[in-house]
Order: sequence, then C-alpha cells, then structure tokens
Amino acid sequence: MKVLIVGFGFIGRDLVKALREKSAIIRKLDPDFKLAGVSNSKGYVLGEDGLDLEKLLSVGGLSEYSEGYVAGGSSVDLIEKSGADLMVEATPTRIDDGEPGLTFMRHALSKGIHVVTPNKGPLVVAFEELAALAEKNDCEFLYEGTVCGAVPVFSLVRECLQGDKVLRISGILNGTTNYILSRMYFEETSFELALKEAQERGITERDPSYDVDGIDAASKVLILANALMKRNARFEDVEKVGIRGVTQEAVGLAKKSDFAVKLIGTIDRRLEVAPKLVPINHPLCVHGTLNAIHLETDLAKEITLVGYGAGKETVSAVLNDILTVLRKNRPD
Ligand SMILES: NC(=O)c1ccc[n+]([C@@H]2O[C@H](COP(=O)([O-])OP(=O)(O)OC[C@H]3O[C@@H](n4cnc5c(N)ncnc54)[C@H](OP(=O)(O)O)[C@@H]3O)[C@@H](O)[C@H]2O)c1
Repeated sequence: MKVLIVGFGFIGRDLVKALREKSAIIRKLDPDFKLAGVSNSKGYVLGEDGLDLEKLLSVGGLSEYSEGYVAGGSSVDLIEKSGADLMVEATPTRIDDGEPGLTFMRHALSKGIHVVTPNKGPLVVAFEELAALAEKNDCEFLYEGTVCGAVPVFSLVRECLQGDKVLRISGILNGTTNYILSRMYFEETSFELALKEAQERGITERDPSYDVDGIDAASKVLILANALMKRNARFEDVEKVGIRGVTQEAVGLAKKSDFAVKLIGTIDRRLEVAPKLVPINHPLCVHGTLNAIHLETDLAKEITLVGYGAGKETVSAVLNDILTVLRKNRPD
C-alpha cells in the first residue's frame, strides 16, 4: 500500500515515528508498505518509491527534505498525483465547516482511497456524507482517534459487539475539563485557578471555551451518536452546558455525599453535555486528564473503557486504523 499523511504537525510526526518503530508489524501485513507522500500547509513531498522516514523525522520543515518537495503544492494535488491507496488526514480540526480536512477526505474517498483520521471537524459537519462516499467507492473510512484519543471505542463496537445494539452512551469525553474538575475535587481550588493551571500545563485549547463550554465534548457526542447509533444528528442537536458555573462549594458538597461533579456527554433520547453528579464508585468516575466511555447495549449490558483522550497516545488509534485497513486488504 502507498500511504499519504496530510498534515505534518504533532500527530503527523508522531505517526511517522510509530511507522518506523512498528515496521515489523506493518511489513508482516504488507511487505510493500510505503509512505509515499506528506503534506503541510506550505507544500508537499512526494516519493514514488517511498520516503525515507529517518530523514523525514530529522528535517525541521518539509522543504528541507528537498527531494520531491513541491513548494506551495496543495494536498489535493498530492492526492491526485500520488496514486495512493490510503490517506491519513491530520490537519487542524474546524467544527464550523470541517475544512481543510473535509475537502481532502471527499477527494480521497471519491477516488476509492481509504481514509484514516483523528480530525473531528469533517465528521461533525458531514459524517453521513463521508460514510456514504466510502461505502459507494468500496473503501474504508476509519476515525478511532477522533473520540477520546487512544480509547478504542469504535473498534470495540465494530469488532467485539457485532451483534449488540448500542442503547445508550455516556462518558467523560474531554480530558481538560476532567483535569479542572479533579483539581477542584482533590485540591479544593477554584474553577478559575484550576483553569489557569491547565493552561500553564498546555492542556487547554488555544481558546479554552472549546473545552470549558463543552464544545469539544459536544462534537464527540455527535460523532458517537452518528457513528454508533445512526442518529443522523447535527451539532445544533447537542444540548451543551459547560463547567464555568461549577463552584468549589458545589464540588465540596457533592464530595461530602460521595459524589464527584463530572462533565458528562450523554447519547440517550437526547444528546447532551452537562455537569453531572457521578457516584465515586461508578466506573465513569475517573480523574485527572483521563477519559471514560460507558456503553450500554442489549446483550453485553454495560462496558466501560478508560484511557487517555489526547496527546501522543492518539497515535495508537491512528496506527491501529491503518493496520485494520492493511489487514482487510491483504493480498491472498
Ligand atoms: N494532538 C493531539 O493530541 C490530538 C489528539 C486527538 C486528535 N487530534 C486531531 O488530529 C489533528 C492533527 O492534530 P495536530 O495536533 O497534529 O495538529 P497540528 O500540530 O496543528 O498540525 C496540523 C498540521 O496540518 C497542516 N495543515 C494545516 N492546513 C493545511 C492544509 N490546508 N493542507 C495541508 N496541511 C495543512 C499544518 O501545516 P503547517 O505545519 O504548515 O502549519 C500542520 O502540519 C487535528 O484535527 C486534531 O484535532 C489531535
């Protein structure tokens, strides 16, 4: 398989490291696996015979790779010229219009190129359209990294709950707000101080309202609802209340009664993100930057997954999606 990485930032670079470190697993599934192209906002590198991963990791910018570099070349052009089988799309998330990733995904899927992505934006804006395009063109569309980073919720449902009907999902879907609420719970700090600490640790988005007003969690609720429960919902259908109104007094009172205040995303009859009281012995009651997803299904009844929702652990999800495509498309 020939693979492209569109977006060579934090995730793109970490993925190249993982491709280098896990090459034995990859080669076992596909001895001809090649990284054929990489792009960022300024241009792309295309190498028909496969790029040199060491060299790619050692250069400061893609232009320094020099061989095969096209300054100002667009990712659409790269998709067209590369003859790729699979595109990993890792450009920044924009939930208002899904761009630039939405254009790249539409383009790749229309040509029958498999798409793997951790980018929520295009799925928030056009999940059904992209899933239908993939089906029509007989290719894979996998997005494990979009919800709760390394927590394998889509793979679990797809592979291990094939006969189950998912009835309800609830979860802690944003690590930043969970960090803030955990500081308020354990250290009795105010919301303002805990937010400042989170910003100093670099775990908030540039605009913290994306985290604290529940926008990030709501986009994950929407993706889970559409992908796992076929709700065909839009972002406006998710009711959102963030954590700005959660006081230290409320957290303290809850704690005295063995509850913690958590920002919970729920997919039930309604789609909702809101601060909720969670009993401290409930499996969803995890702390710090951890995420948790609680699935209720007709046969398995209840399953909870806990793990890291962002950061370099996300590469686990992206790599697993790539390996899934390789396994499904193995030559006989
Ligand atoms: N980082 C995480 O922990 C994490 C976790 C889960 C999901 N994600 C998602 O994964 C995606 C990538 O995240 P990241 O942290 O790697 O972001 P990042 O560090 O900001 O990197 C984004 C990359 O996309 C490139 N880009 C921007 N516009 C482009 C365009 N029009 N054409 C081609 N490339 C373009 C940027 O180019 P320049 O370098 O030229 O600016 C950059 O290389 C995002 O959607 C994010 O939400 C990230």
